[in-house]
Amino acid sequence: MTSELTTDDPTDVRELTRERLHEVTVTVNGLPRSATVPPRRLLSDLLRHDLRLTGTHVGCEHGVCGACTVLLDGAPVRSCLTFAVAVDGREITTVEGLAAEDGTLHPVQQAFHDHHGLQCGFCTPGFVMSACGYLAAHPDAEDDGEIRAEMAGNLCRCTGYAGILAAVKQAAAVLRDTGADPRQRHRPDAS
Ligand code: FES
Ligand code: FES
Repeated sequence: MTSELTTDDPTDVRELTRERLHEVTVTVNGLPRSATVPPRRLLSDLLRHDLRLTGTHVGCEHGVCGACTVLLDGAPVRSCLTFAVAVDGREITTVEGLAAEDGTLHPVQQAFHDHHGLQCGFCTPGFVMSACGYLAAHPDAEDDGEIRAEMAGNLCRCTGYAGILAAVKQAAAVLRDTGADPRQRHRPDAS
């Protein structure tokens, strides 16, 4: 026999299911942004739905594919596994924060373009952000095996990875030449 939830006072049900809202303020791509969110709001949803930054993609939604990768205080994280309330007061960089103000691509983005490191492009924002975090920590990266291992947390169903590997190697060389921090917005005139 199936039992049903019944109540004489429907407002009780609303009260029981009501979530407390929290004000979250973060710096995203150098700008302060705020939103009022329930405690279970994911960082990926904060970015895409509350802040309308849809460059961060969501694939598996459980930490496997890496499509949702963003930089949190300069280090790559999976935004689908991170609660928005947990990043209050912190600094986030998304793929929208990389190209120069005049639209010139960031060296990592340019390298993906040059080496056909994307086809459908769904995985690309995650790969680009992971590469930015990786190259910041390993500016001397040039070993194929090491790059493959470090980028193994991102999945691509289209490219076969050869173009992505070549792109990361090119970006590493360009960034070494210019000395630019790959986690910062590109400044073509600074090279
Ligand atoms: S959407 Fe976050 S890891 Fe796949
Ligand atoms: S380019 Fe299509 S999933 Fe990577």
